[in-house]
Amino acid sequence: MLKVSAGALKDILKGTDPIALFAFEEGLAGAAFLSPAARKSLLARAKDEGFSGKAGETVSFLASDGSKERRFVLAGLGKKASLDREGIRKAAASLYKAYKKRFPSLGFCPHTEIQASAEGLLLSSYEFSRYKKPEEGVLLTSVLVPWADARERARCEAALAKAALAAEAVFFARDLVNTAPSDKTPLSLAEAAKGLAGSGVTVSVIEKEEAADLGMGSFLGVARGSVHPPALVHLIYKPKGAKKKVALVGKGITFDSGGLSLKPPQSMETMKCDMAGAALVFGVFKVLARLKPKVEVHGYAVMTYNLPAAAAYKPGDVLRARNGKTIEVLNTDAEGRLVLADALCLAAEEKPDAIVDFATLTGAVLIALGSSVTGAMTNDKALLARLSSASRLADEPLWELPLPKEYEENIKGKIADLQNIGKVRGEAGTLIGGLFLREFVGETPWVHLDIAGTAWTDSEKPYCPAGGTGVPVRTVLEYLSAF
Ligand code: BES
Ligand code: MN
Ligand code: ZN
Repeated sequence: MLKVSAGALKDILKGTDPIALFAFEEGLAGAAFLSPAARKSLLARAKDEGFSGKAGETVSFLASDGSKERRFVLAGLGKKASLDREGIRKAAASLYKAYKKRFPSLGFCPHTEIQASAEGLLLSSYEFSRYKKPEEGVLLTSVLVPWADARERARCEAALAKAALAAEAVFFARDLVNTAPSDKTPLSLAEAAKGLAGSGVTVSVIEKEEAADLGMGSFLGVARGSVHPPALVHLIYKPKGAKKKVALVGKGITFDSGGLSLKPPQSMETMKCDMAGAALVFGVFKVLARLKPKVEVHGYAVMTYNLPAAAAYKPGDVLRARNGKTIEVLNTDAEGRLVLADALCLAAEEKPDAIVDFATLTGAVLIALGSSVTGAMTNDKALLARLSSASRLADEPLWELPLPKEYEENIKGKIADLQNIGKVRGEAGTLIGGLFLREFVGETPWVHLDIAGTAWTDSEKPYCPAGGTGVPVRTVLEYLSAF
């Protein structure tokens, strides 16, 4: 496990660990502790080795630090003018990948953007090794980031602590998503969630009978198809003096086969990812008591399998949600909105200032926005604006999609209040999902994030291996930190 911590510059300089630095195409970034002569000879040496400071490049060599020979490692940031935080995360990730098997420890002087630099290192160190031996030969376990004086020390330590919490939350979410579907039954995840209780966090589990008493017919309709019973986990973080209350609601389909409206085999391959919304809620609660945001937070993880067993709900069935609305099921593969309907009712009854739901809801959002941009829909522009600025800090892009009046007619049922798919097949699937969910939040300010494209990646990304991404956990942490 990689640890990134703060240390005194003079101790790092006295030591013998390699010193890692960032460099632009135009020259070294930061590294003010080196004399102009030492900087010049470093750059000359790097050029000699074919390093030009381009993004993604790395180089390592022995050179003088002004008083003695030591090893330097450079990571390219590209052109000065085009630098941004995400570029820094990616450069730190290149650094980690290039040298994780070579050096057990590094001094690392990112100069600015300490949090992003540490995130790049930490997030790229993630490995899911539950079912196979960890990668052989990884050495790098300790990185020391320098401070020069007491004021810098406090700033540096705070930035590194934030990065470490973010990575911990992201890893927790990635692990849950990557876990095989049969190894994450709703009740076993609920049991694991109880482990998140502690200082400032309480956890309760609504099991099947209680959900029935609560009138959650929509959620329980989906759950009928599995021998493993459903569970709805309610987590509460309540700091003293909090003036606002936020609810986070996560879709937790522990495997989505489509139910009787069965998916084709290829589409099912990755459907263990359909609980990524619930995994996000758990990841956030893993670190909340230590992050200490000044806001009350309620987490709801609504979990069940979606399977075509003998008792499974059928196309044509009518379900009744907790708020009394009836729903004609025309496609059992549009199950996410059905389980969320009841969870959103429950969340709205808490009278929070905001509800944000996280759901791998529609394949259509992947067609519209691809695998890097989350689709956002809302009934409250100001709330979405706050989430969007958090998403910019985290560099987990969101893009607003509309909830058009013209399409409201599409989810009206023939023999029930609503139907769970739109009337025109293949059109505006993501918006239809959003319009449906809006029926269950009442007047509460609400944002729906469709993470079907972003919570999972089929191929490796700069600081994330193939599998669960943990997106947008860091956005949520930034959003809550801003209260
Ligand atoms: N879990 C899927 C959506 C999904 C697709 C997530 C791809 C991740 C990657 C969801 O339950 C679903 O099946 N949605 C249907 C809705 C349709 C039946 C209206 C879809 O997108 O096809
Ligand atoms: Mn489905
Ligand atoms: Zn689903």
